[in-house]
Amino acid sequence: MTPVEPPRLPPSRIPAHVAVVMDGNGRWAEQRGLSRSEGHWTALARMFETVDAALSVGVKWLSVFAFSSENWQRSTDEVEGLLGCISGMAGQHADEIVKRGIRFRWCGSPEGLPGALVEDLHRLEKATASGTAINCTLCCNYGGRSDIVQATQKAMEMAKAGRLDPEDLNEAALARLMFTRDLPDIDLLIRSGGEQRLSNFMLWQCAYAEITFLPDLWPDVTRELLWQAITDYARRERRFGAAPTTAKPAHSVH
Ligand code: IPE
Ligand code: IPE
Ligand code: MG
Repeated sequence: MTPVEPPRLPPSRIPAHVAVVMDGNGRWAEQRGLSRSEGHWTALARMFETVDAALSVGVKWLSVFAFSSENWQRSTDEVEGLLGCISGMAGQHADEIVKRGIRFRWCGSPEGLPGALVEDLHRLEKATASGTAINCTLCCNYGGRSDIVQATQKAMEMAKAGRLDPEDLNEAALARLMFTRDLPDIDLLIRSGGEQRLSNFMLWQCAYAEITFLPDLWPDVTRELLWQAITDYARRERRFGAAPTTAKPAHSVH
């Protein structure tokens, strides 16, 4: 069997921050006559493979969307199953996360989450604070719009208390008040499951993200597909509003 090697990419072309919307677990399970929750458990195993895939190419920041602030609309059974998976990760897999040198962060609101889960997430953040292999952020009970609102509320409270002059509020100052405060902007966003939308994920942080939509359901996403997405990213020209660097013939006007 041919050994599967990670792509060797010039360091300057490797995305520093890759974010993943892990979508398609429910459909994957339903296609196999399994419960949607079983799809979420399979997804959890894939998450560790994703961390390895990112690590092996030199990605330093990996953020994954595990439970959105809108996912509360699902059945009680499914919500319990989903939060159970996340608890399992934060509880049962905590030692493995520490051993791998992963620096773990949680982004999201504690509101509505079981207290024990919030404690486990905080405990894991503390236990991995000195991890240097890769920064992994789990977005759980996270919504992009509510992140912007809660940051704005904090800024208004600071202004009311005289600790912030409204004139000093700029993009960097607001970004420091978000759940994602320590994270760089997202370079590459990958969404599995075939849907081509953001679903309220990191709206602010994705301002200039390159986006790859994979048709594959998340439990079917292999490390090779992730490597391919990163290799494609390395070939893209990011412009941030500037003119293209490669000279192209001007369009002729008739
Ligand atoms: C993504 O898979 C996981 C979460 C939303 C938490 P889904 O559960 O949305 O799977 P599909 O999109 O219904 O197949
Ligand atoms: C996005 O998937 C949320 C997560 C992957 C956690 P959804 O399945 O909730 O998104 P929609 O509802 O299809 O937009
Ligand atoms: Mg979905």
